[in-house]
Amino acid sequence: MKGVILAGGKGTRLYPLTKATNKHLLPVGREPMIYHPIRHMVAAGITDILVVTSVDHMGEMVNCLGSGVELGCGLTYRVQDGALGIANALSLAEGFAGGGKICVFLGDNVFQSSIAPIVESFRRQDKGARVVIKSVHDPERYGVAALDEQHIVEIEEKPAKPKTSFAVVGLYFYDGQVFDIIRGIKPSARGEYEITSVNNAYIARRQLQYEIYPGAWTDAGTFESLIEANKLLHDTANEIAR
Ligand code: DAU
Repeated sequence: MKGVILAGGKGTRLYPLTKATNKHLLPVGREPMIYHPIRHMVAAGITDILVVTSVDHMGEMVNCLGSGVELGCGLTYRVQDGALGIANALSLAEGFAGGGKICVFLGDNVFQSSIAPIVESFRRQDKGARVVIKSVHDPERYGVAALDEQHIVEIEEKPAKPKTSFAVVGLYFYDGQVFDIIRGIKPSARGEYEITSVNNAYIARRQLQYEIYPGAWTDAGTFESLIEANKLLHDTANEIAR
């Protein structure tokens, strides 16, 4: 399985930190944020990894990561010209994926414990997609999953009145259908190609499976959550992903 790390976007919620550099190069714990998804993937046996970032910051990203050899992986890079949404960034991975299964990690997500068991579950999954959910106190900030006994029946992106407390976290697994699905989605009211639209398309095909993440998780896209991410990785010294 190949890995895709999405590290584009504008990072406006962290301005002026993101005036200085790309959000994913800001320090979290003892390392630049982008190290974290790479270390998780490598620890889960994913060593062929594509990094998508914005044109403004591609130079700094390559300066920081190089070929990936120091982190135990091989890196490929693609530029996303505009911040047109997560699904738009993912569309750039089509050639890299070559029709195979992919693990997609949002570059500002921080996971306390190993993702390897989830990667294994998807290796064994016949087809379709897999998402990961986590109960949170502020679900309105995320994609929110509504569930029946066995399945996710709907995901709403940043709902004003969330139906559950389950956020869909930024770790997604897709089979080769994902790029056709992305071609079929339309931009949302905020003008972005949403990953939630992609996941809802898998629900419509009855091919979306899920699991609940057992460890601590946060994104790092706001000042409050960036502090939380720093605490999480400082406390655990990033040992899980090594
Ligand atoms: O953190 C999990 C949440 O991430 C999910 O629950 C939501 O469903 C999903 O939409 C996303 O929500 P955010 O509003 O937090 O996404 P954000 O715009 O912060 O983007 C998350 C990462 O995706 C960011 O670190 C870089 C990447 N990205 C984002 C955009 C908009 C790109 O690579 N390109 C983009 O155009």
